[in-house]
Amino acid sequence: MKKLIEVIQDEMVKAFTAAGMDASFARVSVSNRPDLCEYQCNGAMAAAKTYHKAPIQIAETVVSAVEDHSVIGEIKAVKPGFINMKINPAFLAEYLSDMQKDPDLSVEKTTNPKTILVDYGGANVAKPLHVGHLRSAIIGESIKRMGRFMGHHMIGDVHLGDWGLQMGLIITELRERRPDLVYFDENYEGEYPKEAPFTISELEEIYPCASGKSKEDEAYKERALNATLELQQGRRGYRALWNHIMHVSVTDLKKNYDNLDVHFDLWKGESDVQEYIPGMVDYLRDNGYAHYDQGALVVDVKEESDTKEIPPCMILKSDGAALYDTTDLATIIERMKLYHPDEICYVVDKRQELHFIQCFRCARKTRLVDEDTVLTFIGFGTMNGKDGKPFKTREGGVMRLERLIGEINEEMYQKIVENRSVKDTDARGTAAIVGLSAIKYGDLSNQASKDYVFDVDRFTSFEGNTGPYILYTIVRTKSILERYAKEGGKLKKGEILAPAGESEKSLMLSVSRFNGVVENAFEEKAPHKICAYIYELANEFNHFYHETKILSEEDQARKDSYLALLDLVREVLETCIDLLGFSAPERM
Ligand code: ARG
Repeated sequence: MKKLIEVIQDEMVKAFTAAGMDASFARVSVSNRPDLCEYQCNGAMAAAKTYHKAPIQIAETVVSAVEDHSVIGEIKAVKPGFINMKINPAFLAEYLSDMQKDPDLSVEKTTNPKTILVDYGGANVAKPLHVGHLRSAIIGESIKRMGRFMGHHMIGDVHLGDWGLQMGLIITELRERRPDLVYFDENYEGEYPKEAPFTISELEEIYPCASGKSKEDEAYKERALNATLELQQGRRGYRALWNHIMHVSVTDLKKNYDNLDVHFDLWKGESDVQEYIPGMVDYLRDNGYAHYDQGALVVDVKEESDTKEIPPCMILKSDGAALYDTTDLATIIERMKLYHPDEICYVVDKRQELHFIQCFRCARKTRLVDEDTVLTFIGFGTMNGKDGKPFKTREGGVMRLERLIGEINEEMYQKIVENRSVKDTDARGTAAIVGLSAIKYGDLSNQASKDYVFDVDRFTSFEGNTGPYILYTIVRTKSILERYAKEGGKLKKGEILAPAGESEKSLMLSVSRFNGVVENAFEEKAPHKICAYIYELANEFNHFYHETKILSEEDQARKDSYLALLDLVREVLETCIDLLGFSAPERM
């Protein structure tokens, strides 16, 4: 469906044209003075200069050119030359009724579907998921869902860090503890055991232990680096161990991401693109893109217009080892080959921005990426604690994701049990649903690039700009609908009447903006715009709810209309939270 504001603008185009003026002056915006009007057009000011007339005179001419008031109900020229408008309430009702009957809820899917690969999550295998990876998962999942909703072909790739030093560290520590394991016997030629020689909890203990030792013990670190290199060169026993580490760790990661309602289409990682590296290195060298600098193979990526130093992209270290730049470039090659994306969008900590500037420039310059494939970096800020420093546990350690979620869910559980009048048979399940909304909304309601403070008390509150408040509002609509159904009432979708009061009209105007908001939020890859919208919508709804007797309304047609509107609000809110990556419980 056309956006409501566009329908109004079309009317203004007609009016300007009829008044003999250019249609480009007919731009309409939502009023910033809702006390005076709902929409406004300031085109008379600009037109005044072109046509050498007083703005108010132009505004008056345009206003009198509007003869049909079925869309714009009221229109007024006010000094010095504003045109203020109010929508015809009957038209608004019709628009919302159509919206309710539309399976896409008024959103026009794209006519030009693109293949967009979203690189998000970015977990490192064998290292526990921590809050640093939380933002990437939450923001990336939302962008993927928004794109899919708009009709694009979205591919989510977790792009695991599965090829780095952490693997060598684990192998080294394992060897220290159990040198007799068959994986370390270089002469062994048989099959390796199917069972991993460790569990996930052992693995999670081994990594920090090894990492700690390597920081204190040079020789240990040397052994770990060497093990990493041997693994990458294909040593059989190490490869077998690597497979075990991958299996155990990825199983656990999947469980964690599932709990976050984050789902990837691809579980690829850095290790998957190793096969592309030798060919890429040859290509870069043979075509004169790369050159040696103090033994390292690099590609210059600085540009004249740079205001700060952009160092070259590092393809190989002087010892021949591949680096982070190398795998990201090789990954671009693979993605181009397998998926031909129109866009690759990276959702990564903004502190990695320089790395992506280097990679993007290098990929363009060396033509690893098609000319018309867009590379986008969505750098997000840090999640801080109340002290303004990166979020930590109470003891000051790195906060594990599982623990964070556990603590939030416990907090929610206490609140739900306290608040409760009816008995919930599944308060724990409800707490998990509401807890997830607290975490995700708390994150997404901030512009991604900004740092934000993760404030458990605020995020879990049922009041204010929070996930639980939005869910509470949805649950309120559901329980009214449920009561109505119990009375034997039947919902009449698409039969919304012109608003009876101001709060109802405001609510309806808010609902009507849904399609524009979703489209714009995806265009700007800005989930926070959806949050801002549903917060406003929830407020409008609650205001309407407090002023209106819905179920005790005596006029049946009016009551039907209230309930249809209420159901439409529910549907819009539920669609929006789905785009944000969470859902609402049946009761709270
Ligand atoms: N594993 C990386 C990290 O933990 C993030 C990966 C981001 N994606 C990418 N294509 N580099 O920092």
